[in-house]
Amino acid sequence: MTDISRRALLAGAAAALPFASAFGAEEPKAPGLNAHAKLKGMFYGAAVSGDALANDAALMEHVFAESGMVVSENAFKWSDIHPEAEKYDFSGADALMKWAGAHRIPVRGHTLVWHEANPAWLEPALSKTTAEKILRDHIKTVVGRYAGKLVHWDVVNEVIHEEDHKPLALRDTPWFRALGPAYIDIAFNATAAADPNALRVINEFGVDYGIDWQMRKRDQLLALCADLLHRKVPVQAVGLQAHLDAGEIAIDQKGLARFVADIASLGLKIIVTEFDVRDQSLPASVAARDTAIAAHGRAWLDAVLPNPAVLGVLSWGLSDRASWLNTKFPRPDGLSQRPLPLDAELNRKKLWSAMAASFDTVPPHGPQKS
Ligand code: XIL
Repeated sequence: MTDISRRALLAGAAAALPFASAFGAEEPKAPGLNAHAKLKGMFYGAAVSGDALANDAALMEHVFAESGMVVSENAFKWSDIHPEAEKYDFSGADALMKWAGAHRIPVRGHTLVWHEANPAWLEPALSKTTAEKILRDHIKTVVGRYAGKLVHWDVVNEVIHEEDHKPLALRDTPWFRALGPAYIDIAFNATAAADPNALRVINEFGVDYGIDWQMRKRDQLLALCADLLHRKVPVQAVGLQAHLDAGEIAIDQKGLARFVADIASLGLKIIVTEFDVRDQSLPASVAARDTAIAAHGRAWLDAVLPNPAVLGVLSWGLSDRASWLNTKFPRPDGLSQRPLPLDAELNRKKLWSAMAASFDTVPPHGPQKS
């Protein structure tokens, strides 16, 4: 971790008493999730949407109280930041940087290469002769603009998809079709050149459960990381999205811990990047859902967090008032899902307590380098 980001982390935690009035008349709330994580040398943070940033001051106050890092849900993706071939739009990304700067909270960047959230112009523009320059220019422009200001970059996102039957189980994407596996090398090298100090992350989902395809995917991700490192591609960390499902089978804590240890043994750090716990296959009862979600999330965190290579946890949003899961995996009964630490009224839920308890019970991690 750079001195600047360490100072920002400390300042963020020290100032996190937003509920005390100017005259100290109100009791401050109990310490936020980041304060719990920080005691163990980790951080907690949350994804923030452009809508929350612009329109939901109450939610943002809670983001400030709970978080030691933020990430934009969409503003750094190609569709938002590079909407036309010759036009960048930094307004959404800059708005988050401004808020985070004012609140002295470090920001991570998400994401430079993904097969989703791409503007209409991009795919037709990619060919064997054009793709490398388009990718390098984008990374130079975007990473360069925020160089020294972002603590991490998700350089590539969700690149494994064995059903596509490509080498290294890589996903068949427009980038792959134009450049083959080399697009990953290009992306990491260009990011390192544009901002040597932001931690470079390969971000992936679907490695959370001891079911066949996910166990294979764990091995595929490890093999890909080993291959990249062997070829001196400058990947530094694995991002585990951790979009969990409380209706899924129990967490295979031993297998999951071994997987995390295998990542660490490659010399890579681990960041939990998009933690949430969906409940669309559970009955309606709020109390029962909240209990199951908390237990499920706790089991996953308890298996992963003890590894000293884990730097921290971000959830994909903070409050149930806004989660992507209600669009992506709507409940059949139309009720809202309850995947995040705070409920829609911004009260701490059982999942909040489970996360805090998981931070509280892990052994302290050593001094961090990010
Ligand atoms: C999601 C956002 O939350 C939504 O607002 C958007 O419509 C689609 O993308 N994995 C990722 C994230 O890496 O970027 C996705 O975010 C959720 C799944």
